[in-house]
Amino acid sequence: MLNLSQRLLTLARLVPQGSRVADIGTDHAFLPCYLVKEGIASFVIGVDVHEGPYQAACRTVEAYKAKEQVEIRRGDGLTVIEPGEVDVVIIAGMGGSTSRDILEISPQVVETLKKMIFQPMNGADAVRRWLSEHSWVITGEDIIYEDKRFFVVVAAEKGEKTPLTEEEIQYGPLLIKNRHPLLREVLQKDIEAMQEILRQLAKSQNQESKVKVHEFTRRIQMAKGLQEWLFAAKQ
Ligand SMILES: C[S@@+](CC[C@H](N)C(=O)[O-])C[C@H]1O[C@@H](n2cnc3c(N)ncnc32)[C@H](O)[C@@H]1O
Repeated sequence: MLNLSQRLLTLARLVPQGSRVADIGTDHAFLPCYLVKEGIASFVIGVDVHEGPYQAACRTVEAYKAKEQVEIRRGDGLTVIEPGEVDVVIIAGMGGSTSRDILEISPQVVETLKKMIFQPMNGADAVRRWLSEHSWVITGEDIIYEDKRFFVVVAAEKGEKTPLTEEEIQYGPLLIKNRHPLLREVLQKDIEAMQEILRQLAKSQNQESKVKVHEFTRRIQMAKGLQEWLFAAKQ
């Protein structure tokens, strides 16, 4: 029996029953094997661009006797998936801008999908911005705290074009709307990281640094405003 981390379990719970799934950047292929063994997905294609993870994924599929329902492919993102071949795509454990670039280079595959699930390691804003600009509606969001780290999960389905505010792009429309219990801690961590960047930028006097100081000052104010709103809502 496969014991998944809370992070991977959260992704698995967002997959609709009976879906055909592609797990991009599958690495060990634990998630594909779990999805078929638990009867959640009918078929999963696990994709990895690197030889080591590709081989590890093949070994897991072998070990869990999942060959009939899990296929491992070596390749870059969605370029090894045919349009219409899957309903759901999962892109987890990569940067937000890498996840967005994977969508950008395969529009013909993306347009045939029903749902996409992301767990960006950083830069979730890049994913949310892309979704809002391409008529994908964010239908699920979560924050998981595991191994002393916060992991953000974003799920989206096709819909109407939904403009998001800058706060929503940075911190998640549903995390804000639902006042996710971990959002205040995520904001605090983000504020501290940005304050440290400001301290480093203060040592430099060039024009580029001044622009960045302005940008980070604005973002800190935005995060603090959101923190205050969350705090006030709790009273
Ligand atoms: C940190 S692991 C994440 C594994 C798994 N998805 C998870 O969340 O636990 C990232 C994996 O993505 C793979 N990867 C990175 N860029 C990729 C791309 N463009 N296409 C396919 N796989 C990629 C890496 O080789 C690596 O195995």
